[in-house]
Amino acid sequence: MKIDRRRLEQSIEELGRIGQTPRGGLTRLALTDEDKRGRDWMVARMREAGLSVTVDQMGNIFGQRAGEAALPPVIMGSHVDSVPTGGRYDGQLGVLCGLEVIRTLNDEQIRTRHPVTLAIFTNEEGARFQPAMIASGVMAGKIALEDAYNARDKDGIRLVDELERIGYLGAEPCVARPFRAYLELHIEQGPLLEEDGLAVGVVEGIVAIAWSRLTIHGVQDHAGPTPMRIRHDALVAAAEVVAGVRRIASEIGGDLVTTVGNLVVTPNIVNAIPGRVTLSIDMRDPRDATLDRARDRLEPIVRDACEREGVRYELEHYWRVPSTPFDRDVVNAVARAAKAAGARHRRIRSGAGHDAQYMAAIGPAGMVFVPSRDGRSHCEEEFTPIGDIDYGARTLLLAALDLAGRA
Ligand code: GLV
Ligand code: MN
Ligand code: MN
Repeated sequence: MKIDRRRLEQSIEELGRIGQTPRGGLTRLALTDEDKRGRDWMVARMREAGLSVTVDQMGNIFGQRAGEAALPPVIMGSHVDSVPTGGRYDGQLGVLCGLEVIRTLNDEQIRTRHPVTLAIFTNEEGARFQPAMIASGVMAGKIALEDAYNARDKDGIRLVDELERIGYLGAEPCVARPFRAYLELHIEQGPLLEEDGLAVGVVEGIVAIAWSRLTIHGVQDHAGPTPMRIRHDALVAAAEVVAGVRRIASEIGGDLVTTVGNLVVTPNIVNAIPGRVTLSIDMRDPRDATLDRARDRLEPIVRDACEREGVRYELEHYWRVPSTPFDRDVVNAVARAAKAAGARHRRIRSGAGHDAQYMAAIGPAGMVFVPSRDGRSHCEEEFTPIGDIDYGARTLLLAALDLAGRA
């Protein structure tokens, strides 16, 4: 069975134009006007493909293709929000390959026993509203609906108000429901598949992820008349923390990765001593225990840096997702599908978070990876050759068909 490569390429092109950056990347932050246009485009394609579309309280979109029996669905999902100056593959490719699978089933007039559902999750990236994967988190019962609704972007705008504004505050309860399997195709976002010359990764699980927020309160003052000896500079303490966070990874080693990616400096002008800095800390490791050790090291680094500068701080560990192995049967189904698709493949672990991680908490889940050129993502250079996408989409098709069962 083949997928229509030309049609898939055209969809990637069309959806990629919504929120396109001048350099061919994508800025389509969750629940912005661009996100609404991307969603509207997807919903139109889902209806054209004969899916019955519903939207839940978190703005998650589901399009269901009926099965022969009233059985739990096989869900194929991902997201259409992006990071700022991101690429047109992260998330997008998963929903478009899911759409292509549905279109192929339609073309071939294949009936399945279980329904097959295409899902689009809200705010997967966590770029606009924190944490990431907030909507699958609510669905899995790991994040309270109320907390998700009250998440605010950097301008203080609430998630629920934006859902309403763009017309995606649905009526369906956002709760766990039984599913036969959850499958997510995604770009690898790392270099391993490309290095090995492989088209498909059979994902065995996702690393543990911890996000923290540090606010440092210094004393805002003039950059000229204030002698060095009486300064309390929040940014100087923050700089020590940034270097310290990097050091945690080099000292603990192994697969631990640590990142300070967001720094908000107040007042952020040339001639004032920074009075306040807020910064993000992202730490990931395949082992939960290693992440605990990393967090234990973070606390003294922050304390010492702030003591030296004579500044106050608040450190908040506000989001944690445990290391998540995927369901053995689903992983095996993906491996069989990759083989049947003729794709050169290997088993692989994800260093990025995905909605599949929360879905794995409430049902059998697995993922299909396709390579990322130069291992790059969350940037405009993100790219995957269509030949590899074709193998990935066929793997998704065959795995979905295997799990849904032919009627
Ligand atoms: C999502 O892109 C994440 O891994 O942070
Ligand atoms: Mn993604
Ligand atoms: Mn991403």
